[in-house]
Amino acid sequence: MKTLMLSVDEIETAARIIREGGLVAMPTETVYGLAADAYNGKAVANIFRAKGRPMDNPLIVHISELEQIYGLVREFPDKARRLADRFWPGPLTMILPKSDKIPDEVSAGLDTVAVRCPSDPNARKLISLSCPLAAPSANLSGSPSPTSAQHVLNDMDGRIDAIIDGGECDVGVESTVITLATDPPRLLRPGGITLEQLREAIGEVILDDAVLNPLKNGEKAASPGMKYKHYAPKAELTLLRGSEESFLRYVNSRKDGKTAVLCYDEEIDDLRLPFIPLGRAKDYHVQASRLFSALREADDKGFERVFAHCPGTEGVGLAVYNRMIRAAGFKIVEL
Ligand code: TXA
Ligand code: MG
Repeated sequence: MKTLMLSVDEIETAARIIREGGLVAMPTETVYGLAADAYNGKAVANIFRAKGRPMDNPLIVHISELEQIYGLVREFPDKARRLADRFWPGPLTMILPKSDKIPDEVSAGLDTVAVRCPSDPNARKLISLSCPLAAPSANLSGSPSPTSAQHVLNDMDGRIDAIIDGGECDVGVESTVITLATDPPRLLRPGGITLEQLREAIGEVILDDAVLNPLKNGEKAASPGMKYKHYAPKAELTLLRGSEESFLRYVNSRKDGKTAVLCYDEEIDDLRLPFIPLGRAKDYHVQASRLFSALREADDKGFERVFAHCPGTEGVGLAVYNRMIRAAGFKIVEL
């Protein structure tokens, strides 16, 4: 299959491909998504094939208007309405009891469905010209999520019908996922909308254990995606926890031509080995927007080992931490 690279002026072409049951990678404010008609089970099954994604990992349905949610869910509780009023359109996904119109391929046989209303104007246009779209991140399963059309092309060339090139994504990590199918609601994946913001909007929100820790043997994941190895570069990533001084001492002693560092901007002058800056130490928004492309860059440059700071867990730091510990297979060195 030849993969078309479309400009944002060609979204009508992309919408036609979707209506005919094809697969289109679309920009969103978080990461690029690989979209198909959410009501077409066969088209959705092709998403799993193209990504090499396990069939038991359910997808998010993307809508452009709040009204579309009534075709997707069985219940729309008050807390969900408050979250939608406050954070949609934007990087928040809500899990709700699903309607029986949702194909099993979307929800992977669960009784719930994940729904998100993205703010990216090109994603919204594609949805409004076609239909609600089932879309996971547009990477090969397991690798870092794509934050540019080029990243998508590197993973998906020849596997999907088209890519809409909408430039680089703003947020850079996937949406915050909260389930409202349990009470109190539970944060399953941190993202651009923070735990603090969610609690301010609806009160108690439980932080699921799997956000910060590996699943224990035999434990069932509340979100199936959390049990798989994720976001991992080919290079071996290790996180270091300690002061800036101890970090610099540790990495500077590992200059071997095969090792690189994901560093903070403040450290650039003191580093004696190759580095990829992630932003300033406490600027988690910038770190989130650069993380996945930094992991891909480390691989493109052929590094075998990468060291990075273990970020803090406040605000958007929680999302950066969650992606980094998974990319590192939970390897943290205490300095
Ligand atoms: O920002 C995003 O959310 C991006 C863009 C494209 O919208 N999409 C994305 O999709 O990250 P994906 O498939 O890579 O991640 C969806 C996560 C997975 O961890 C999946 O297991 C979880 O959401 N999920 C989906 N439906 C679920 C459900 N019904 N119950 C529990 N977890 C669910
Ligand atoms: Mg993904």
